[in-house]
Amino acid sequence: MKGLILSGGAGTRLRPITHTSAKQLVPIANKPILFYGIEAMVEAGVVEIGIIISPETGEDIKAAVGDGSIFGATVTWILQDQPLGLAHCVKIAHDFLGDDEFVMYLGDNMLEQNLVGFISEFTSRRQAPELTSTNGGPTAQILLAEVDDPRSFGVAEVTDTGAVVRLVEKPDNPPSNLALVGAYLFDKTIHEAVASIKPSPRGELEITDAIQWLIDEGHEVAHDVLVGWWIDTGKKDPLLECNRLVLDTINPQLDGDIDEASDVEGRVRIEAGAKVVNSTVRGPAVIGANTVVTNSYIGPYSSVAADCEITDSELDHSVILSESAIRNVSRLTDSLIGSHVEVDRTKHVPAGLRLMLGDHSRLELEG
Ligand code: DAU
Repeated sequence: MKGLILSGGAGTRLRPITHTSAKQLVPIANKPILFYGIEAMVEAGVVEIGIIISPETGEDIKAAVGDGSIFGATVTWILQDQPLGLAHCVKIAHDFLGDDEFVMYLGDNMLEQNLVGFISEFTSRRQAPELTSTNGGPTAQILLAEVDDPRSFGVAEVTDTGAVVRLVEKPDNPPSNLALVGAYLFDKTIHEAVASIKPSPRGELEITDAIQWLIDEGHEVAHDVLVGWWIDTGKKDPLLECNRLVLDTINPQLDGDIDEASDVEGRVRIEAGAKVVNSTVRGPAVIGANTVVTNSYIGPYSSVAADCEITDSELDHSVILSESAIRNVSRLTDSLIGSHVEVDRTKHVPAGLRLMLGDHSRLELEG
């Protein structure tokens, strides 16, 4: 089985962070979201992985992943000139995929469950088709999750007997509360499906339409229901929530320097070269390599990436990307700060806010 990870696209919802960088490289507990997907594939024995990239962010993704050997995988890069849809990704990956079965994974999704059971279920359903189907076993398998508001997802209609009969992309009137999670399994029939569908009203070749084509042509589409949490990390609040869930599971490890005046409490990882001086770090939290925390409080659910400076400040429940500085800020919470950002309280006169914010930035001042 091969793997296909979709890491192109425009990333408009996380602007301004994604004006200049890929949303799939935004870190969760100081590790890019994309890496969790690659690791899940390798854990399930899928080591031949194709990654879809865009002209805008592809080079950064290539630089981060390398040739895949750090994960024990081999990576084939597939450039998608424009974000023409999830099914378009399958189309342009056809040469790489050949006639093999494959697992497709959306590079901005994070799942608590691994892919091992999902893949082995598909394999056994296909090896023992008489158990599930009269037409030779499923040609596709999707993963579904119950959500409160399914309107921003693909939505599935499943019969009482468990048959998937209809899929619709981002419907105004969802036929159920079962959203499609960003992990799919396909055999080679999907190539016929993506060649047969037309672009949707939003101009994309939708994978939901391709799977609907399979159903309409009489192929069985199996489904699993998700176990544990799942987050489509493309927006700030889900991203912070995901960071919180992952930080709850990290192994504490203190590789940096912590001086005697500092306290480190709970589940905390301090990476090599980091310094904590006269400060309190209360986990779950991670402090990246070479970051310096001085006279500060880093509270629960904070991820501070590498090469940052936190001085005379307090923060919690926030994600700070690399090479940023926070100085003299009494309380920063629920925040996502990009890389190379400086937040500083100064005594300059006349007193006032002096801002330089990128397009689509959002600033909430204390009431
Ligand atoms: O997160 C689950 C949802 O993902 C599903 O419920 C939907 O059925 C599915 O269409 C998808 O919806 P999104 O609107 O969230 O997809 P998004 O545009 O965020 O793209 C998902 C990933 O695929 C992301 O890593 C970017 C990448 N991508 C997307 C497009 C449209 C590409 O690589 N190329 C593309 O052309």
